[in-house]
Amino acid sequence: MSTIKIEDVAFVRFRAPDLDAMASFLVDFGLKIVEQTDERLVARGAGPTPALHITELGEAGFASLGLRAASLADLETLAAAEEVEIEAFNAPGGGKVVTLIDPDGHRIEVVAGQTLAGNLALPPAQAWNHAAAKDRVRATKRIPANAATVVRLGHCVLNVSDFRASEQWYKSRFGLITSDEIEVAPGFSIGAFLRCDRGAVPTDHHSLFLVQSPKGPGFNHAAFEVADLDDLMIGHERLKAAGRAQEWGVGRHLLGSQVFDYWRDPWGHTLEHWTDGDLFTAADGSNVASLQDLMNVQWGPSAPPTMA
Ligand SMILES: [Fe+2]
Repeated sequence: MSTIKIEDVAFVRFRAPDLDAMASFLVDFGLKIVEQTDERLVARGAGPTPALHITELGEAGFASLGLRAASLADLETLAAAEEVEIEAFNAPGGGKVVTLIDPDGHRIEVVAGQTLAGNLALPPAQAWNHAAAKDRVRATKRIPANAATVVRLGHCVLNVSDFRASEQWYKSRFGLITSDEIEVAPGFSIGAFLRCDRGAVPTDHHSLFLVQSPKGPGFNHAAFEVADLDDLMIGHERLKAAGRAQEWGVGRHLLGSQVFDYWRDPWGHTLEHWTDGDLFTAADGSNVASLQDLMNVQWGPSAPPTMA
């Protein structure tokens, strides 16, 4: 039994010495700036979460990962179990937050009670003409050139120093379920894709991926869901035209099945666009996969050394 079951990841928080430069990158990436002061930059997506990406003025680095609890009652349960205070969540949408520190010192902010923002418009879902099924007839397809439409934060990957210790820490608090565990030798696993336990409600193949990395603990990447494949590709062209640093893609992962496209912010933090990922329920069980499966693509370029 875990203390609570989180519903999803909520936001990522960074520090950067130049908020204008971060804002410019985020607009090219497809996020919407909703607040910019001398001290802080907040961006949202088209989905209802009021803040997906927060940057505080400071030395560049990853500051925290936000998780969303199902209710304020769950937040109280978590705070009591951890013997910490519930605080006001100081960001658009308000709500409450409990801040914890994981075994590697990563700051984890669990939020609840946020006032959701209204949905912003998404590009219309347009049918595809497959050779085997012509779903769009007597109609054109036109994709306006634009940044991608980031909808929500889908997952975060954290490098950890001891996978089993971190797995235990996160699962015992937040009720996560292993989708695919990465076994590199019999009986030795270096990481796992973890999904939220939402019972019969389908949830992303992974909301959190913990991986024991030779680089040592730290932020690996954060991944944002975009509207669809055309939107991802239009967003790719925009980032390329703006001279942004691409890291890996476009391709389709094996584990999780997402179409992916990885870019770097001006300080080297990896942010991913993805679309068309797998969804599972709590009944769908867990699998063991190999390191080859982890790095494998179904199509697209192989992983650069920086992703290893
Ligand atoms: Fe990812």
